[in-house]
Amino acid sequence: MRVLLAGGAGYIGAHTAVALLEAGHEAVLLDNLDNTSAVVAQRIAQITGTTAPLVVGDAADDEVVERAFSEHGPFDAVIHFAAHKAVGESMQKPLEYYANNLDSTFALLRVGLAHGIRSFVFSSTGTVYSDPADLPFTEEATRNLVDLSNPYSKSKLMNEVVLQDVQAVNPDVSITSLRYFNPVGAHASGLIGEDPQGIPNNLMPFVARVAVGRLEAINVFGDDYDTPDGTGQRDYIHVVDLAEGHVAALEKAKPGFAAYNLGTGRPVSVLELIASFERAIGRELPKRIAPRRPGDLAATYCDPAKAERALGWKARLTIDDMTRDVWHWQQGNPGGYEG
Ligand code: UD1
Repeated sequence: MRVLLAGGAGYIGAHTAVALLEAGHEAVLLDNLDNTSAVVAQRIAQITGTTAPLVVGDAADDEVVERAFSEHGPFDAVIHFAAHKAVGESMQKPLEYYANNLDSTFALLRVGLAHGIRSFVFSSTGTVYSDPADLPFTEEATRNLVDLSNPYSKSKLMNEVVLQDVQAVNPDVSITSLRYFNPVGAHASGLIGEDPQGIPNNLMPFVARVAVGRLEAINVFGDDYDTPDGTGQRDYIHVVDLAEGHVAALEKAKPGFAAYNLGTGRPVSVLELIASFERAIGRELPKRIAPRRPGDLAATYCDPAKAERALGWKARLTIDDMTRDVWHWQQGNPGGYEG
């Protein structure tokens, strides 16, 4: 299959490009390099021995997408990773989030369908759920749009509505929405990984920067939650497993719209993640208990059974695999791609 990856130089896109190439498919990256680096394309080539051409430009611009198709098409499929993804920032900049996260889908669908793509895979999020009464979250547990707490999550659910309506009038096309839980980890080569700009918001990259000495101490946001050790539990999924979920979604694509959870189904607490990281590096990390972060749930984790049933996909890697691979990546690239 020949696949266009919008946002393909980003964290999840790059790992998916590797997984596609290793499975014998062809990949072309389209990325505005807003939040990543062109070095990623070289790293993908280093890992796979195959080149994934990089088109630099914005996936929300029809002309750019048209150029990707005319210069590198025809494509069988598009995977759409290109989006703004910071929940906190989305509350400050709702218009930017709605515009960017929807315009990119519109452009990719308009141009892609005109060029006859057979399947479209969309990066959605486990934050389309949020009622603790629904744990573990199955695909049926999406909230009403107005009940979601932030524009980022709303923009993802709005996209899913658009995708279903577009699929209905393109009955031969397969549209798949993949709802990611907490992607962490890095490729085992240590050549690609997560490279957030500034101080990371998310736990794993924050811990990695403390481990490498770029930040002083880990803040544990709350130790009085109703969880086994009092700290928040999440469904961390190794990015390599997640990438393989995309390959499975493409290979098993059937006409129609479907949404799948991609997670392990196993909750891991903040303290368990830190303990795993400490095992990986063989020393203790400085940490302190801090107040709860506003808006955080005590626990979120999915029921991944639908993806296993329909796609034959299941996450294989453990939290120790995730922390080991993050450490390998962080050690080899202490300043990220440009460092
Ligand atoms: C966040 C995003 C979510 C996104 C996901 C990607 C929010 C509200 N949600 O989820 O949209 O899909 O990342 O992985 O931002 N924690 C600490 N100290 C820290 C950072 C986090 O204790 O410095 C705790 C949090 O309270 C939480 C857990 O670690 O219990 C995970 O937090 P984080 O990595 O930010 O992920 P989420 O909040 O689950």
